[in-house]
Amino acid sequence: DLLRILDKVLEEKTLSQKEALFLLNLEDEKERELLYKTANFLRRKYLGNSCCVHGIIEFSNFCSRNCSYCGISIHNRKLKRYRMSDEEIIQTAIQAIDQYGFQALVLQSGEDPCFPAKRLAELIKELKRQRPVLIFVSCGEVGERGLEILYQAGARGILMRFETSNPVLYEKLHPGYSLEERIQHLKIAYQIGYLIITGALIGLPGQSDEDLLNDIFLTSELRAEMCSFGPFLPHPETPLGHSRPPNKTRVLNALALIRILAPKHSKILVTTAFETLDPLARENGLMAGANSLMLNVTPAHFRKQYVIYPHRAHEKESLEDQIKQTLQLLYKLGRAPTDLGTEITNGENKA
Ligand code: 5AD
Repeated sequence: DLLRILDKVLEEKTLSQKEALFLLNLEDEKERELLYKTANFLRRKYLGNSCCVHGIIEFSNFCSRNCSYCGISIHNRKLKRYRMSDEEIIQTAIQAIDQYGFQALVLQSGEDPCFPAKRLAELIKELKRQRPVLIFVSCGEVGERGLEILYQAGARGILMRFETSNPVLYEKLHPGYSLEERIQHLKIAYQIGYLIITGALIGLPGQSDEDLLNDIFLTSELRAEMCSFGPFLPHPETPLGHSRPPNKTRVLNALALIRILAPKHSKILVTTAFETLDPLARENGLMAGANSLMLNVTPAHFRKQYVIYPHRAHEKESLEDQIKQTLQLLYKLGRAPTDLGTEITNGENKA
């Protein structure tokens, strides 16, 4: 049955829900290898050997939301909070661009009332005045007006997961907030012109296999340039602190299935959360359909306070070391680092 389904994948026929679920739940090692090889084949066929490498700056860990899994949510009263100053943010960005060659940067924070869209917009304008860089904002739901202001200022992408496509589960995990609004926000962003990076958590308590499949479909429907799916990892200072994370096989199977079900040219990220769950995540993920990485360029003393979940991979590594390791791995796998910035200026992927 597996070979028949994988042939269907290679012939680019649409899988039934049952077939997709069969792939998601593969356990046998030999069988899983075939799934990963098939996903890897599609990755190579449509995206060549380029691997997107973006930088992320986590400029504030203040957050007013109540996500029941998140270590920087209001649930966590023990976390030491920080905000980078506008100058620190711009300096960090400029260093990442000049010294390390980043051409695409994500500016991320919690939903921090001290960084309203207007302040972010000034910051982005100043940065864009100084350097040509592709900027993704990742500051939660800034609203339609906020999205417009930030686009005007020069932001061209948004990174925001919808977290789960199941509205009941969404409202359970985010009391008082609605999935519909979050999805609407992503749709408006797309209409304004933003590149979309979105996705969901894998293995949230209460998530069914069908939910995860719907998460993949919703990501495609939202026309994601890049799919960001990572495992739920319990944080002790949150209501879900005692829940179990998914196993690494499930995460890897999910990445391969995203490659199979999402549009041909979608980029797929190997997340830091997956690396935290499995030290081999990067290599395995990149060989099972994924083709993107994000490096943390936040200054180390702030980075260690951005505790979305405990023991984050690369928490303490210098940026130099992160880059060295990344390049080593990419060369070993025969991949070339690029980023969305390069691809957009060049019109297509470099092989
Ligand atoms: N485990 C894994 N990922 C998490 N996120 C938040 N909390 C956790 C957790 N405990 C993810 C969410 C959010 C992103 C910034 O971090 O998906 O969108």
